[in-house]
Amino acid sequence: DDVLSRTRAIIEEHRLSDGPLLPILHAVQEAFGFIPEDAKPLVASALNLSRAEVHGVVSFYHDFRSEPSGRHVLKLCRGEACQSMGADRLAEELKGLLDVEWGGTTADGAVTVEPVFCLGLCACAPSAMLDGEVYGRLDSESCNALIAEARR
Ligand code: FES
Repeated sequence: DDVLSRTRAIIEEHRLSDGPLLPILHAVQEAFGFIPEDAKPLVASALNLSRAEVHGVVSFYHDFRSEPSGRHVLKLCRGEACQSMGADRLAEELKGLLDVEWGGTTADGAVTVEPVFCLGLCACAPSAMLDGEVYGRLDSESCNALIAEARR
């Protein structure tokens, strides 16, 4: 199986490094776009961890995804500076509009919405990142424009 063999190769490549868990998980996510359920027991047994420990790390770090993402990933900043500029309200509005929860993907598979905690753009709060590009001073209108762009 592709997941198993590729995960084994990734584990081999990293297992002797210091603190191999995070580098392995990052490489797995890079290979598949998310962390497949089947990969977790392999990683756990290679590193002498329990499945629950690996699962815990995957769910703790917002960078890791347990399902494939949509074609675009919109990360909305939930850091303090952005919150104080209304990021929460904006996020609620957007999630309602797209009909997704945090980490969810729109029904058309176009956009996955994820939280992020500071994009280093506090001076331009509230901010977001769409497919790796940052946008600041967002309001409903510019958010909608971003989404429309992503959905094209
Ligand atoms: Fe949002 Fe820093 S808190 S960019």
